[in-house]
Amino acid sequence: MTTTRSLLDIDDLTNEEVDAMFSLAHEFAQRPAPRSLEGRFCANLFFEQSTRTHVSFQCAQMRLGANVVNLSPAQLSLATKGERLDDTAITLRALGIDVLVARHPLVGAVAELAAAFDGCTVNAGDGTNAHPTQALLDTFTLRDILGDLRDRTIAFVGDIRHSRVAHSSMRLLHRYGARVLAIGPEAFLLPTDVPSDVRIARDFGAALGTIDALVMLRVQRERFDSMPIDDNAYIAAYQLNDERLERVGPRTPILHPGPYNRGVEIVDAVTLDPRWRYREQVRNGVLVRAALLHHLVHGW
Ligand code: NCD
Repeated sequence: MTTTRSLLDIDDLTNEEVDAMFSLAHEFAQRPAPRSLEGRFCANLFFEQSTRTHVSFQCAQMRLGANVVNLSPAQLSLATKGERLDDTAITLRALGIDVLVARHPLVGAVAELAAAFDGCTVNAGDGTNAHPTQALLDTFTLRDILGDLRDRTIAFVGDIRHSRVAHSSMRLLHRYGARVLAIGPEAFLLPTDVPSDVRIARDFGAALGTIDALVMLRVQRERFDSMPIDDNAYIAAYQLNDERLERVGPRTPILHPGPYNRGVEIVDAVTLDPRWRYREQVRNGVLVRAALLHHLVHGW
């Protein structure tokens, strides 16, 4: 039994722990989750805008009966009174917060909070670095749809360089035996942007016949100063448009971590297609996060 376990990146969890979480998440899909966080306090501290991840954690915490505190960074003393991040973490713990869920635009900032916070810290995304709970919900969703992921080819398409989702998800999918393919222009995908076992392809159309699942990514403009390639050229080469959609296998799932930008990486028709599994990802996110919080607080 532990109350100090944290999740900063996906490699903090063993495959056995991920499997245990996935079976608990399946149980939560069948029956109401137990109120196993009753009496505990969870704080959600998001220094970046978020719809899905923030609300998903909040719903997961509430399903487990936790008390939930949502903090807006603009209200905190570190915004205007010079309080440091680590001192904010110390203060939140002393106030009685057991679980701190944090997102920050800077790589390593959540680890800094975790180092000072004597409870459970969960990384809800730090800069371009890591987003372990998105990796969990993507892998959970793909296993539900495809079954065993061994030797399945899963392609990530678009702005891989700035995607913390791709960075964490690729690693977990690889651990489950999947063949990971990264598709994108050089400006968003150098060999150094992906683990060495990830294959790189530049031609989206040519790769379409070989893949078992597609994960489309947003161009994360808030993470760089100016678009490194022409917008129209990017769209022409990497958008999942009507023509490419027709060439996706009849049962090949199409995922997206959200937020998706219609007219950029996908066209409207994608969101109406039965292969588009985005809603399932969002629903699964609550179950997987509830299972994670339960295990972090009560042990495995
Ligand atoms: C992603 C994120 O914030 O990293 N979204 C999410 O958490 N579901 C991806 C993105 O912003 O494009």
